[in-house]
Amino acid sequence: RPYKHSDFTKLSPKISTQDIARIAVETLNKQGHCVLDGVFSKTQIQNARIDIDASRENGKFEMGRLAGGRTSAEQDKQIVNNNIRSDEIYWVEGSEESLPGVRYIVSTMDKILIAFNDYLDGRYFINGRTKAMLACYPGNGTYYRRHVDNPNKDGRVVTCILYLNENWDAQKDGGVLRVLPSNAPTYVDVAPVANRLLFFWSDRRNPHEVQPAFKTRYAITVWYMDETERNLAKQDLAKEEQVLSDKRGEYELAAHKKEK
Ligand code: OGA
Ligand code: MN
Repeated sequence: RPYKHSDFTKLSPKISTQDIARIAVETLNKQGHCVLDGVFSKTQIQNARIDIDASRENGKFEMGRLAGGRTSAEQDKQIVNNNIRSDEIYWVEGSEESLPGVRYIVSTMDKILIAFNDYLDGRYFINGRTKAMLACYPGNGTYYRRHVDNPNKDGRVVTCILYLNENWDAQKDGGVLRVLPSNAPTYVDVAPVANRLLFFWSDRRNPHEVQPAFKTRYAITVWYMDETERNLAKQDLAKEEQVLSDKRGEYELAAHKKEK
């Protein structure tokens, strides 16, 4: 599979939420994923890291394969094939007073995703999200094998990931996110460097994998939901198995339809 270079956009520090959303949606429409560097300040990234480091020291993280927010049947399967992922995760609402650094990041992501609605031309209407997943790959070759986040229309349409790793050398430290778009014979590698914000469509268009990490690797991931897809998933009783679990959570966003 040939490698394809993706557009990585370095933002000017004064860019508005509205411009970030516009660039992100335009890029998503073109290539299915979008990489933006420099949305946050160095201090904002460090403050999020302080919260995450403290949470880890307090024992809040559990193995991703046990805490992935999946149904029990799927979880059992994962425990048997316990080689799908080897990260450690902690689900948070994102509004916790005890996590001010994470709260700032998640509330900024929320603002950007609400502004997506102004550029999505009605294709999706984003009005909800999951909890925020704080993820840690503790080195030693920890990974997440190739998968699709939302293969069965559970409501999640955009995956939003912020990487938090200063001095990450992908050659030496690995931990690259490889996206293998289903509509092209190419792949794209995204190194998990600090202050890199990644968006991609959460459905079958974007199988992806985290390659083995050899140094501790941190990220914050939030999945944003489309109103219609989410409502259909909730109505479909046969789909109940796939509807988000308590762990993954569900929150409404103050996303109002734009007056036309
Ligand atoms: C996931 C995932 C990618 C990353 O948690 O579903 O694919 O780069 N994470 O952390
Ligand atoms: Mn994923």
